[in-house]
Amino acid sequence: MSRFTGKRVIITGTGSGIGRATALLFAAEGATVACLDLKGADETAATITADGGTAYAYVCDVSNSATVKSVVDTAAAAMGGIDILLNIAGIGHFAWTHEEDPDWFDRIVGVNLNGTFYMCRYALPYLLETGNGVIVNTASNAGLMGLPWSAAYCSSKGGVVQLTRALAFEYRGKNVRVNAVAPGGTNTNIVNSFTTLPEGADFREMSKMMSPMGQAEPSEMAEAFAFIASQQARFMTGSIVSVDGGLAC
Ligand SMILES: NC(=O)c1ccc[n+]([C@@H]2O[C@H](COP(=O)([O-])OP(=O)(O)OC[C@H]3O[C@@H](n4cnc5c(N)ncnc54)[C@H](O)[C@@H]3O)[C@@H](O)[C@H]2O)c1
Repeated sequence: MSRFTGKRVIITGTGSGIGRATALLFAAEGATVACLDLKGADETAATITADGGTAYAYVCDVSNSATVKSVVDTAAAAMGGIDILLNIAGIGHFAWTHEEDPDWFDRIVGVNLNGTFYMCRYALPYLLETGNGVIVNTASNAGLMGLPWSAAYCSSKGGVVQLTRALAFEYRGKNVRVNAVAPGGTNTNIVNSFTTLPEGADFREMSKMMSPMGQAEPSEMAEAFAFIASQQARFMTGSIVSVDGGLAC
């Protein structure tokens, strides 16, 4: 399929996991892709180019609004505009709330929620220009249900859910669709940040965070982003699409 021929797509978190798999899928289906990450975006862009696609790479800390503005403007100039924004970068960890370092709370919310807002804020003028713009954010089952030792992560992802709905309403008459994928356990690096339980935590609580269906592969999440961003999903906006093996049902 070539669902994205001629589309200019900007994607965060492309250095690994779901973001990398999504960048590769969109490029394989004809998109020009701007790959953003703290690290590894250059390797993903090089893989796309080696496979005959078109990609640009940018080092970008999405939690820094000035950096985001500069990178979004630079990427838009390189591609000649932006049709699709995919916010996939994210971080998290486990901690008892009564022991959590407030700096860590700020950092997790700063990347997951503020970073998503900054990218939307500075990409929206370009998306509005196209007359057919799309944003797909990354929530989580943790944004739809409460989980232990995850106050910062759950708060940030719950914020992404409401940010997505707010933007969908605000821009539904302006030809910009805004949705979110809410993944469950997926086989990526971020899972390593959630393997060390805080001292005294009961590991049996972990079973609530795992689907009997096991883990997804990043490529399966990429397929969800692609469907939502495609013309086949023309009537979808404001949707939070769980792809989590039934965790949040
Ligand atoms: N893997 C899962 O089980 C799972 C479940 C639910 C939601 N998610 C969400 O999926 C998204 C992708 O995560 P993943 O599973 O591919 O993990 P990952 O760790 O493989 O990828 C996350 C990427 O985000 C990048 N990143 C981190 N901080 C950044 C910053 N400040 N600026 C720019 N980039 C930054 C990392 O460098 C990394 O490449 C995240 O938003 C995550 O919260 C993942």
